[in-house]
Amino acid sequence: MTDNRASSDAAASTQAEVSEEIQQIAKAYERDAAPERDGEETQPRLDYPPYRSSVLRHPTKDPHHADPEGIELWAPAFGHQDVDPLEADLTIQHRGEPVGERMVVTGRVLDGDGRPVRHQLVEIWQANAGGRYIHKRDQHPAAIDPNFTGVGRCLTDADGTYSFTTIKPGPYPWKNHRNAWRPAHIHFSLFGTEFTQRMVTQMYFPGDPLFALDPIYQAITDQRARDRLVATYDHDVTRPEWSTGYRWDIVLTGAHHTPREDEVEA
Ligand SMILES: [Fe+2]
Repeated sequence: MTDNRASSDAAASTQAEVSEEIQQIAKAYERDAAPERDGEETQPRLDYPPYRSSVLRHPTKDPHHADPEGIELWAPAFGHQDVDPLEADLTIQHRGEPVGERMVVTGRVLDGDGRPVRHQLVEIWQANAGGRYIHKRDQHPAAIDPNFTGVGRCLTDADGTYSFTTIKPGPYPWKNHRNAWRPAHIHFSLFGTEFTQRMVTQMYFPGDPLFALDPIYQAITDQRARDRLVATYDHDVTRPEWSTGYRWDIVLTGAHHTPREDEVEA
């Protein structure tokens, strides 16, 4: 969702100030390069000052393990019959065609050993082509598309593959600091074998000029880890006269798992 909770102080920061802090943190990360560091930093930093609107709300304590069996008693449940295959097409939810670049986003969900994660729920939400969400807290002056809600879901198949047909989202302003813009992205939520393994993350598009400026993307300090959030344009995924195509694989566990956003969302 969009994040308009930045304080007026935070909104007073300029992009130049935020970019300078991003660069200082990146330099410090490179200075501490392996072997001193214990391998690659694969996850976003929760305490990341350039991400102004997270300063007062990010967790400061280690998470506590909850009793997974207890959670299963009240967590939502779903089965194969609950997810209609048509829900994977975000372009057919209304009477007309949504505006924007129609595209297919597909990939495989894998565990740390490269095995497919089968029949698992994948949910996405995103802004429309103009960068606008259907959400009461997104009031920035870009058009709502009456033919696009921006929410879909599907189950992975026996090969661990998911596939969505949707519209390429636009970048949007988010008030983290003055003139702050998010790179275009799609939010993903995945469940592993249990609801307690839920993972929430974001997929980006290759070559986005906003990458270097974005404190959420840059909160993952390692370039290799950041790269794992960026989809690949794949001409084999395109459909003639119909849509472009992007491929993005998601690894749930292991050393090369996809960075997740446990607490951050924008
Ligand atoms: Fe977003």
